[in-house]
Amino acid sequence: MTTTDPTSTGPALVPLHRLHFDEPGPPRLAELPGGAPAWLVSRYPDVRQVLSDPRFGRARLYAPDAPALSEVPDLVNNPDLMFNQDGPDHLRLRRTLRRAFTPRAVARWRPWVTAIVEQLLHRLDGQPQPVDVVEEFTLPLPVAVISRLMGLDASARDRMRHWSEHAFSDGSHDGEEVESVLKEFSAFGAELLAERRRTPADDLISGLVRAADEEGGLPETQLVSLVCGLVVGGHDSTMTMLGNALLYILGERPESWPRIGADEEAAGRVADRLIHLVPLGDDRGTARHASADVEVGGVTIPAGAVVLADCGAANRDPDVYPRHTLDDLFAPLEAPTLSLGAGAHYCLGAWLARTELQIALHRLAARFPELRLAEPVEGVTWRTGTTSRSPRRLSLTW
Ligand code: HEM
Repeated sequence: MTTTDPTSTGPALVPLHRLHFDEPGPPRLAELPGGAPAWLVSRYPDVRQVLSDPRFGRARLYAPDAPALSEVPDLVNNPDLMFNQDGPDHLRLRRTLRRAFTPRAVARWRPWVTAIVEQLLHRLDGQPQPVDVVEEFTLPLPVAVISRLMGLDASARDRMRHWSEHAFSDGSHDGEEVESVLKEFSAFGAELLAERRRTPADDLISGLVRAADEEGGLPETQLVSLVCGLVVGGHDSTMTMLGNALLYILGERPESWPRIGADEEAAGRVADRLIHLVPLGDDRGTARHASADVEVGGVTIPAGAVVLADCGAANRDPDVYPRHTLDDLFAPLEAPTLSLGAGAHYCLGAWLARTELQIALHRLAARFPELRLAEPVEGVTWRTGTTSRSPRRLSLTW
């Protein structure tokens, strides 16, 4: 859902690591961006409960009589998306990718992910300074990783940002334009599925097609949305995390840089803390719909209510995360972060995202120990989308 103000691009926006979060408290009535009422849940156990209890679903959010979650069409609010299915409909789709993103599968990808990182760093080393690290590293890395996993060619790779910027539109493109680009993107997804049905290979989409055929009866529109969701979700969120992470570390935590470069295992803990501390965007709460009266944290949320689970506030709940370790980048998390969700929709790419972030930060710090921002944090211009915000450019020197 959208809470980003599309007109507020530019240097005035606060870096995401500096966003303010209210103290978590009992569930309370709040508002959706359009003014419709919603229950806001912010304590760690309450947010976990809402995300894990099947009585809080996503599909009903898109019923014809439901209040609009976003004014512009976008992929996140497409009712065909796996994220917007509940119960058995959701499970049948999710099973098609069950084996693809397990920690064991991701561990096997480490060598080629590392090789992609090294290639990009090698190219970076030869550039005149300052270098735009978004153009040279934080974008091309996740694009190359998801392209390799899905077996995409160069032309699809080149279109990916164009599709993402419309699929996760910030409101700066008009509705007709977004619809037309989303149509083109869906046609690409449909063609990719058809091609891998005709000529299966050893990639994510061929595996998905095989599993979907075994499952039987999955609507083609949902499979197409799943493919499109993976293309954009697979790179946009990682690019966003990496850009915001570099802004935070190099801008405010430079003392941690040498250790990130010296110790890959410690860099993994830093990746976990960064995912935990730095939100992907300005969204306050992932939405659910209550199908029954449910008691959460001593308050009855009535059937039919929209509920916003504020993961950012819950991630700072002092009953779970002591204040003295919250900003310690090397401290292991005291409890699983909610930045990747929880329950049935727990982020499918969690392990991949963490691995990419760990390898990228570790290798970058090892190769460029003197890396620093070439402009102040306040000077950054922002790219804003439906669910994410990150530096449009980030100039670095060494
Ligand atoms: C640091 C990077 C990432 C973050 C912070 C992140 C965050 C999230 C969150 C919070 C959710 C669940 C939302 C909810 O339940 O309300 C989610 C779901 C999802 N994520 Fe990620 N994600 C990241 C990277 C990725 C990557 C790399 C991929 C794909 C390769 C991916 C694919 C998905 C999918 C497919 C879902 C929906 C799962 C379902 O509905 O069952 N994510 N992600």
